[in-house]
Order: sequence, then C-alpha cells, then structure tokens
Amino acid sequence: MAILITEAQNRAREKSMWENEFSKNKDKYRPETLSLNLGYEAKLSEGSVKVPIFMTSTFEFESAEHGKRFFEYAYGLKKRGVKEDPGLIYSRINNPNLQIFEERIAAWDGTEKGAVFSSGMSAITTTILALCQPGDVIMASSPVYGGSYYFFTHILPKFGIEVASYVSADDTASKMEKDLVGKYKDKVKMIFLETPANPSNVLVDIESMAKLKKHKSDLIIAVDNTFLGPVFQKPKDFGADLIIYSATKFIGGHSDLIAGVVTGSEKLMESVSGYRTILGSMANPFTGWMLLRSLETLSIRMERQAKNALEIAKLLKSHKNVTSVTYPGLLEDGDSQKEIFDKQCSGFGAVISFDVKGGEKEAFKVLDNLKIFRLAVSLGGTESLAEHPMRMTHSDVPPEHLDIIGVHESTLRLSVGIEHIEDLKEDLDNALSLIG
Ligand SMILES: Cc1ncc(COP(=O)(O)O)c(C=O)c1O
Repeated sequence: MAILITEAQNRAREKSMWENEFSKNKDKYRPETLSLNLGYEAKLSEGSVKVPIFMTSTFEFESAEHGKRFFEYAYGLKKRGVKEDPGLIYSRINNPNLQIFEERIAAWDGTEKGAVFSSGMSAITTTILALCQPGDVIMASSPVYGGSYYFFTHILPKFGIEVASYVSADDTASKMEKDLVGKYKDKVKMIFLETPANPSNVLVDIESMAKLKKHKSDLIIAVDNTFLGPVFQKPKDFGADLIIYSATKFIGGHSDLIAGVVTGSEKLMESVSGYRTILGSMANPFTGWMLLRSLETLSIRMERQAKNALEIAKLLKSHKNVTSVTYPGLLEDGDSQKEIFDKQCSGFGAVISFDVKGGEKEAFKVLDNLKIFRLAVSLGGTESLAEHPMRMTHSDVPPEHLDIIGVHESTLRLSVGIEHIEDLKEDLDNALSLIG
C-alpha cells in the first residue's frame, strides 16, 4: 500500500488540521458520526476513505528545526500553541492510527483526551503508576477483574501503594467516607471503581463516590467502564476523572485483539501518556487501525448484544436448573441497584452471571455441553462465550473473598454475542437440561 504524504500535502496537513469540519465542530456531532470522521483527512492519504495503517516505527522530520520543536513539545520542555502541530516523532510517542482512535474514543466519553494501550491491564497499571506514589492509598470497589485484583494485592504493595477494598454495597460510599477522613486521612489519592463489576455485575454509584471530593479536591475518581461503556454508561457525567477500558472487550468487539484505553482531562492524561511513553505500554499501529474499524460498529453491536442478553437472562431466570441470575436487565423496582442503574446507565450490557443447581461438577457439565457458546474467557465479542469465574478468571482470589463477592462453585459467566437469539436459547437450554 502506498501512502504518500508529500511535502505539499504535509503543508496542507498543518493547514487542514485546524479546518477539519469534525474537529472544528466536535460538539455539533454525535459519537456515532464522529467515530467515522473525526481526526482524519482522506485527501492527505491518496483519498483513501478508510484510515490507512501507518505501520512505521519512526517519522521523517521536514527539517532539523521541526524535529527539535516536536521533541520540545513531546517532553514538555516548551508549551505548544493551540494551533501548533505537535508533530509525529516515533510510534512509542505518537502514531496517526493511535491518535485518530484516541480522539474518537474521547468523543464517546465526552472527555478531552484519550490514550490507547497494549492491553486493559497496561492501561490500569500505567495509570496508577503515573498518578500514585509510595505512601498513597487507593480505595477500590470490590469485586474487580482478577488481573486488577492481582495488581492491587501482589504488585502495588511492593511500590508502597496500599489498596483498600470495599465490597460494593449500599453503604460503600459512607464506609469510604469514614476512612477517607479518618484512618487514611490525607493519604487517599484515588478511588478506583469497576461498575458493573466483573463477574458479579454489581453496580457502584459513581456520583456518590465523586461527592467525596469535597474532603479532598485532588482525589481522582477512576472508573473501569469495560462492561457498559462508552455506549451505555458515561462516567464523566457523574464526576469521574478517568475512564478506563479493556478495549479487548466491547470496543474491539471481535475477540481478535488485545488493547486498553484511558480517557480524561488534558491535565491527568498528560501524566498518563507520559508514563505510557516511558513504560512503552502503547498499542501498536495495527491494533490502532483494528480499533478504528471496530469503533464504527460499536453501538450497533452493543445494542444487539444487550437485546440478546436480556432474552437469555429471562430464560435463565425461569429455568428449573438455575438458582440465581445477576443481570442489570432483571433488576426490580425497590432494589437500590435498580436506582443506581436508572441514574447512570442507559442499557443492560451483555454479561450475565448465574448459578446452576449443584456445584462445580454441574457447572462444568453445562460448560462442556454448550455448542454455540464457546468455552473461553473474555467477553464483549460478537460470539457468545461462557466461563467459570472461580476456576478461571478469578482463580487467584481467595475463596473466602469469592464468597463475599458472590462467586461460587456453581457460578458461570456468559458474554452474549450477536448470533440468532433462538439458537442461543436452544443451546443454553439443552446444556442446562443435562444437570439437576
Ligand atoms: C473489567 C475488566 N477490566 C480490565 C480487564 C483487563 O483487560 P485486558 O485483558 O485487555 O488486559 C478485563 C479483562 O477481562 C476486565 O474484564
């Protein structure tokens, strides 16, 4: 593929950067439209309607002066004027495929800046290492994804950073508040929330946590928005400062890539992106390009998956061999979780957690007999998946803690895809009928 950006085009690039209809009028368009248009000019890449892959490690400077200037901006040695081109330097620092995706995902979240990472875990780890230091405390909702739990309990303590976990419940905000002004006074740097949580789907009230900033104005509210965002949940509207994703899941959406995302204010993202450059935890250009493709269909995929998931959750709820189901679409009036859902979410998502009658043996039997639901970890892809959290994704979490967060030997997690709903229902019903 020839991508010729000539000197004339390069000059046009500097000019057009600030004249692009979508960059100029970002507020006028909705994310579904911006996902296909923001941050890219076809005329600068041979008229290619789709963003080409900029598969390069390094970029040629127009002059030595340009190179000097770009590095000064990149390392914060000089402030860049609003209309000055930050320049392309080296793909660990910046690359068009990453930058275009970052603009588009930040538009979805309604935030100023985005950064794309090599995985959801590198997004989480880089963010925390960038913003916390020895002596700091992070208050975290519980449960969280098994990898995040591992990082919190086995790695951060080595760096002198303590993570205090609060099992998500109605009184989580008041428990956090008590410790914020008492036991951990002046030490809490960040509140890390995962909502809905993996695997139990429990919701945390983002707004009530953000209100705790009244005790400490520099408190950072970070939300892992993997399960519902950015289509069905916009944490920034409820006071979140940083929004984090495993883009491996719904954003990537086809189970063919590993990536992560963080979006937030220009100020916080400067630190996060700076650490990403030094830790080298950025995504590669090909992954950036794949994510651009995926973002175009994000809302239609998530809507179809949520529609299918609601049907599946209803089937499970009425099944004789299922003892309980947790899915936002089944919440009932009067339940405090429903109040949180109604306030901060606009769709149910596609992850369902449920318990079969019996224990591990019965749960495994269901997994081994599913034909359409693939027996695999991960979630958010177009295909339906099923797994056993206790023995797979959350196998490092101590048994007593698993019990508190509602993960048992009988618990299974489903990620519902876009297949025909009748086929999915039949598959699940067949596997479930073999137990009990
Ligand atoms: C909620 C959540 N956050 C973060 C991660 C980590 O993402 P990745 O596997 O892309 O590193 C996962 C992975 O399953 C997850 O479910």
